[in-house]
Amino acid sequence: MEPALSTSPALAANPLRSGMRMQRTPPPCTVVIFGATGDLTHRKLIPALYQLQRERLLPPGFSVVGFARRDWSDDYFRESLLQSARRHSRSGIDDELWHGFASGCFYIRSAFDDPQGYVELARRLEQLDAERGAGGNRLFYLATPPEAYGEIVRRLGESGLNRSPNGGWTRIIIEKPFGSDLASARALDHAVHQVFDERQVYRIDHYLGKETVQNILVFRFANGIFEPLWNRRYVDHVQITVAESVGIEGRGGYYDRTGALRDMVQNHLLQLLSLTAMEPPVGYRADAVRDEKVKVLRAVRPIAPSDVEQVTVRGQYGPGAVGGVPTPGYREEPGVAPDSLTETFVALRLYIESWRWAGVPFFLRTGKRLPKRASEIAIQFKMAPLMLFENGPLSGIEPNVLAIKIQPDEGILLRFDSKVPGQSNIIRPVMMDFRYNAAFGVESPEAYERLLLDAMLGDSTLFIRSDEIEAMWSLLDPVIEGWAAAPPPVFPNYAAGTWGPASADDLIASVGAKWRRL
Ligand code: BG6
Repeated sequence: MEPALSTSPALAANPLRSGMRMQRTPPPCTVVIFGATGDLTHRKLIPALYQLQRERLLPPGFSVVGFARRDWSDDYFRESLLQSARRHSRSGIDDELWHGFASGCFYIRSAFDDPQGYVELARRLEQLDAERGAGGNRLFYLATPPEAYGEIVRRLGESGLNRSPNGGWTRIIIEKPFGSDLASARALDHAVHQVFDERQVYRIDHYLGKETVQNILVFRFANGIFEPLWNRRYVDHVQITVAESVGIEGRGGYYDRTGALRDMVQNHLLQLLSLTAMEPPVGYRADAVRDEKVKVLRAVRPIAPSDVEQVTVRGQYGPGAVGGVPTPGYREEPGVAPDSLTETFVALRLYIESWRWAGVPFFLRTGKRLPKRASEIAIQFKMAPLMLFENGPLSGIEPNVLAIKIQPDEGILLRFDSKVPGQSNIIRPVMMDFRYNAAFGVESPEAYERLLLDAMLGDSTLFIRSDEIEAMWSLLDPVIEGWAAAPPPVFPNYAAGTWGPASADDLIASVGAKWRRL
């Protein structure tokens, strides 16, 4: 007799619905990195690709073509990649493996607007198809300053590199920031769609590649017991925090034009919000997941520019100390204007106008030079409807909180109240504490490893669709306008090493809550 199956036959028959993902190796392909001499390539992309190679997840004949302005040779490119891989690879360098990987790395020196560079690129790609069997499959990666995106896309179109020969595929990964407001994001999208179909476009937000962020959907939708509580009946409010202890890490020029709202909220925090608040998708497929994410983003109550001061807080750090180390104020950082009005901290209160979430405030906060690096999504539940136990200020009774720890100390905590052992009814909150490290004993892959692999496999579930970009900017444009119209803020308004301006506490106190101490 056949043993009984423990999985429902319907799920077993449908690996996509059940979320099962087989270990897959992408087909032979070439990754072309524009901006190959830059920081992102060296710190993230090459270490990620090398790690995939280490884990035998790259196809045979895999190649990287770097494209950038500096006058480098193939050999110099390989040497510089090796230096940074030594510094940034999470598992160290194995010389033989590296040698194999590096022999597939090539370099083209060209300005991004020089048609000759694209002629040379096309020639090199054909050669790699012929010599390394890349099958005409190409993944372009825009890792340049964003000002160059439009130009590169246009040139790729003009030179016919947006379509592959020999029945291969061509895809393009576009780094954040995707535009700097709604109008510029639409203009960029228009330029991209002149050349590439949407299904070829992979807009990256590296937060979606983080293991803990991917686990939000698994936690919510692979378990039966949480989803019934995940709504306005049980949830009091939600806090999403992405706190960084670092400053702007030498990126003053970029950051001073950008600020925390565009650098972090428009992408990472709104993505965390959409995964936390979305409805269950009809399947674990790119469009089904993204349909639900975009619905939530569109359901966020629009912020009128005249309300901006009530529902947002912006801050900028002054001199202080982080972890006992004295640090300069933002305005003293290289590349930053001495009278800069750029925000390094943002807090927002948002409402989602849906049956699930009506009336539940979502608080978002992010900042640089906060006391520690700590990111989490905390669902704070309502108190029990009737309190049997003494519930004064000293009672120790606290509302239940479910905290999804994104980083570091990845895990999930559930706080609940418990009786302290003894003869009287003393109550104290305690934690159920799941930690990835302890549970699985393996190091989580870096976000870029997962995302590069998915793009090579043609899986865009963890990438941002055009309509999501539009919804995210539509939400924040009024904030940008409201800030511009308001009297200039008095900056700096928090000392490095503190949890942001006092007005952020007032914002959350408006609903009788407090920021969690992380
Ligand atoms: C980037 C921002 O997108 O994300 C940086 O540009 C920020 O300013 C970084 O420091 C944070 O990423 P992570 O993975 O370190 O949390």
